[in-house]
Amino acid sequence: MSEMTQVAAKLTIPVNNNPEKPHQEYELELSEDSYGNLFIDADSINQLGNTRILFKDTKGMRNTAADESKISYIKPSGNNDNGVPQGILLYRGFDVKQLATHSTFLESSYLILNGEPPSKEEFKQFSDELKANRIIDKQTEEVINQFDRQTHATTIMSAALASLAARYEDKYNMASDEDRQELAIRMIAKMPTITAHILKHQQDQRTVSPDEELGHAANFLHMLFSTQAKKVVSDPKHIKVLDMILTLHAEHSFAASTFVARTVASCGTSTISCIIAALTALSGPLHGGANEEVVRMLEGITSDEIPDIINRAKDPSDPFKLFGFGHRIYNAMDPRAVVLRELTMNIIKESHEEKPSDILKTAILLEEAALKDEYFINRKLFPNVDFYSGLAMMTLGIPTNLFPLIFATARTSGWLAHIEECRKSGASIYRPNQYYTGWKFRPIGWP
Ligand code: ACO
Repeated sequence: MSEMTQVAAKLTIPVNNNPEKPHQEYELELSEDSYGNLFIDADSINQLGNTRILFKDTKGMRNTAADESKISYIKPSGNNDNGVPQGILLYRGFDVKQLATHSTFLESSYLILNGEPPSKEEFKQFSDELKANRIIDKQTEEVINQFDRQTHATTIMSAALASLAARYEDKYNMASDEDRQELAIRMIAKMPTITAHILKHQQDQRTVSPDEELGHAANFLHMLFSTQAKKVVSDPKHIKVLDMILTLHAEHSFAASTFVARTVASCGTSTISCIIAALTALSGPLHGGANEEVVRMLEGITSDEIPDIINRAKDPSDPFKLFGFGHRIYNAMDPRAVVLRELTMNIIKESHEEKPSDILKTAILLEEAALKDEYFINRKLFPNVDFYSGLAMMTLGIPTNLFPLIFATARTSGWLAHIEECRKSGASIYRPNQYYTGWKFRPIGWP
C-alpha cells in the first residue's frame, strides 16, 4: 500500500465589496488513495477561516468519497490482456475473478471480514461455526409462514430479519468485538436458510433442514431443491456456479446498499438492523433487484422486438432503461459480468444440448445489438453483473423472485465488513449537508 501523500491545491474565492482584495486564496489539501487517485480533502475546507464552503454534489454523490475504506477497490476502466475494455475489482487486494475461480465463497467471506485469507485451521473453525449456526428459530419460521405466498421474497426476508433482531436484541452487546463477530457468523450462516424457507413457503412445501455434511453452496442448493420426499444431490458444476455467483456478489465498495448499511451503523444501530436497511436498498430495480427485472424484461419480448426495446431505452422522453446495462462506477465491462457471462454460456452449452431456450437466445441477441449501438457505445454502457447473474441463476433453476435474496445472501459478508469497519473507525455519524433551494424565512401571514 502506498503512503498517503499530501499535496496542495489552490482555491480562489471572490470576496464581495472589497476592491482592494477581490479574491481570497486558500490552500487545500489533496490526498492520494492507495492507487494514486486524487481527492480534495473536504476536512481542510472546513478550516477556511470564517468562510463556510461545502461541496455541492447533487447527482447521487458520484463525486464524493464518503469515507475511507480498506475492504475493496474498483478500477472503473482499462483494458484486459486482449485489449477489451474491462474494469478491475479487488477484495482486500485480491482479484475477484481469481477468487471466484480458484477460491470459495466462504474463503472470500473470511478474507473480506478479517482482511487476510484464512489459514487451514482458521478456515476449519470458521466453516464449522457456520455449519453449527445454519438453523433458524421457530419464531422466525412462523413469521415467514404468516405471509401471503404471493408476497415478494425481499419483503418476507426483511420481516424474518426483524424477527432475528428481536431474538438477539438482548443476547449480543454491540459494544463487544466478540459479540459482533459471533453475530456476523450467525448472519452469514442463516441467510441461505431464510432464503430457502421463504421459497418453500411460497411453494407451499415443508422446509428441508440444513445438511451438516455439505459445504455452504451445496447445502444452499439442497435446502432450495430437496423436498421432504426426495433429497436432491446437486451436480458439482452447479455447486461451483452458485459458489462463484456468491463470491462475485460478496462485496462492491460503497454500493447504495452498503452505503445504507454504513449510514445506519454510524448511528450506533445494531448489526441486524443495518442489514435490514441495506436489504431494502438492494431490492430496488436499479440495484440488486435488476437481475430479476432483466429476466422479466427478456421474458416479455421476442427476438423481433429487440430493435423496439433498444429504441425505447434510447428515447429521452421514455423513463424505460435497459435492465442489466450501465453502471454507476464502471466505464468498461464489469469484471464480474465477464466471469458470469462465460459461466452462463458454459452451463447453456452443457445443459441444453439441443438449443438454448428462447429467453437465452433473446439475451444473446439483445447483448449483441446493444454493444453495436452508438448510444450504448458513446455512453460506455456495457452489460453489468445483473444481466448475466439472472441468466446464470435461471439455468440453475432458481425462481426469479428469489434472485435479489441470493444477491443479499452473498452481500451480507460485504455489509458486515463495512458495518465493522465503520464501528471500529469511530466514524462520525453520516449526516451530509444539503444544497437548499427552498424559501428564505417567511413570517406567518395567514389568518
Ligand atoms: N438503458 C438506457 N440508457 C441508460 C442506461 C440503460 N440501462 N443506463 C444509463 N443510461 C443512460 C442515461 O440515461 C444517461 O443518458 P444521458 O447522458 O443521455 O442522460 C447516460 O446513460 C449516463 O447514465 P447515468 O444516468 O449517469 O447512470 P447512473 O450512474 O445514474 O445509473 C444505473 C447507473 C442505475 C445502473 C443505470 O445504468 C441503470 O438504470 N441501469 C439499469 C438498471 C440496472 O441494470 N441496475 C443494476 C446495476 S449493477 C448493480 O447494482 C449490481
